[in-house]
Amino acid sequence: MSRVLNFGSLNYDHVYEMDHFTEPKETQSSLSYIRNFGGKGLNQSIALAKAGVEVYHAGKVGSDGQDFIDYLNKYKVDTTYLKKDDNEATGHAIIEICKGQNRIILHGGANRSIDEKQIDEVLKHFSKDDVLLLQNEISSMSYLIDKAHEKGMTIAFNTAPMDKSVFSYPLEKVDIFIVNEIEGAGLAQAKGDDIDEVIEGLRTKFPDKKIILTVGEKGSYFIEKEQIIHQDVYKAEAVDTTAAGDTFTGFFLASYLKDGDVRKALDLAAKASSITVQGKGAAQSIPEIGDL
Ligand code: RIB
Repeated sequence: MSRVLNFGSLNYDHVYEMDHFTEPKETQSSLSYIRNFGGKGLNQSIALAKAGVEVYHAGKVGSDGQDFIDYLNKYKVDTTYLKKDDNEATGHAIIEICKGQNRIILHGGANRSIDEKQIDEVLKHFSKDDVLLLQNEISSMSYLIDKAHEKGMTIAFNTAPMDKSVFSYPLEKVDIFIVNEIEGAGLAQAKGDDIDEVIEGLRTKFPDKKIILTVGEKGSYFIEKEQIIHQDVYKAEAVDTTAAGDTFTGFFLASYLKDGDVRKALDLAAKASSITVQGKGAAQSIPEIGDL
């Protein structure tokens, strides 16, 4: 099975449980506070590792980031290519949780100081047999995609968080897109509330790509050329949806890379993310494959 290089973000998640999402001009006390390990990159590495994949996490933390290395190593994620940058603070996220939903403010910090030199050093150790997984929380994305494509690596891109920078990347070099309905609508430049329009838009814009689209309660889709496969959700009482998408990405990819069976991969990913939403926090609520 391919190795996965996840070049991605690591954030301290400052999580505040709230009575309601804070309004403009309002000051509101939180009901509780906890600091967790997070970042879409870290969460996805943990999900991949828990799903049984050989995963290397490349990225950057500040001088206070040793805890991240220890945490990833605890779950057997290889951190050889994770660097400490004494001049930058580790990335962080301010997360409000209310009635199972979240709202997230990001500060990129060290995640945004990944440069071409670091990318060249890391990619030296990988080849066309390996998979590069990306999210949209680090710097130098275009360079990374270009260089990995030159090597012939398979590139999977979870376009979260979706913003206009995504359109400046060489998206034609991506092999697999993993998006939720907002990201999918952004990418397809379609209306997010009409799933058929999003699917059609994605298919038209990226006719030769594999696309995984998650649509909350409406389940998920695998789209490739004329083929569309749908997967229902596993119903669960959501306590905290943080990292549900990351769990889906990690478990889908792990299962798909193992045997190429899309239906099995969608089913496993749906099951795993239904467990993540039942626990508080990001990486810590991701299940082990043996628990599914
Ligand atoms: O996907 C959830 C993650 O998004 C959080 O852990 C937070 O750090 C942000 O990156």
